Amino acid sequence: GIIIGLFLLAAYLFGSIPTGYLVAKALKGIDIRQYGSGGTGATNVLRNVGKGAALAVLAIDVLKGSAAVLLAKYGYPWVAAQAELSVSPGAIAWIVTAASLLVLIGHSRSVWINFMGGKSAASGLGILLAMAWPVAIGALFVFIGVLAISRIVSLSSVGAAIAAFVLMVVTHQPLPYALLGLAGGLYVILRHQSNIRRILAGTEPRLGSNRSSQS
Ligand code: G3P
Repeated sequence: GIIIGLFLLAAYLFGSIPTGYLVAKALKGIDIRQYGSGGTGATNVLRNVGKGAALAVLAIDVLKGSAAVLLAKYGYPWVAAQAELSVSPGAIAWIVTAASLLVLIGHSRSVWINFMGGKSAASGLGILLAMAWPVAIGALFVFIGVLAISRIVSLSSVGAAIAAFVLMVVTHQPLPYALLGLAGGLYVILRHQSNIRRILAGTEPRLGSNRSSQS
């Protein structure tokens, strides 16, 4: 019980590393939460800091998601074995799923920055890459496709979140992973409520336009 708790806490803490906030503060001296969409993700860093900074934030946020999954998938069974506890593969899949949800929540509700953060699309991609890479590739294709057509990052993230769940089912992933696709996908979509309102109002900024969105 305690071991599982520590792995879940680690997942939350991985997620809560406020990459975008730190990068914007270090490179431009700004609190990114006060600019553009108010999000701390790569998209808002791109708007308000720059391309290199956004790429760095994107890469690290993806890695955070992968790290949480890999830690739960391989670290937990290893520690359990050292403690001479037996764990079933089925149990591990559920712990991986719980760790995934916690890294998503940690990223968007970070304990270090007043429980604010990003919208968990990049960390979601990182989770999928480590959990079920064909699902990750498929969701990434949907993201790129929607982005190419709309040039709206948030719409692409919402499309990818829906695709993640559909692809989990279509590729017959284990039940806990399919449920992660559903719950994680819904979570990412819920985090995009303000974007969805702006999309419907026609005011969501497109990639390449200079106008920042309001938070
Ligand atoms: O992943 C975040 C992206 O989908 C939207 O970011 O800053 O436009 O709200 P932002």
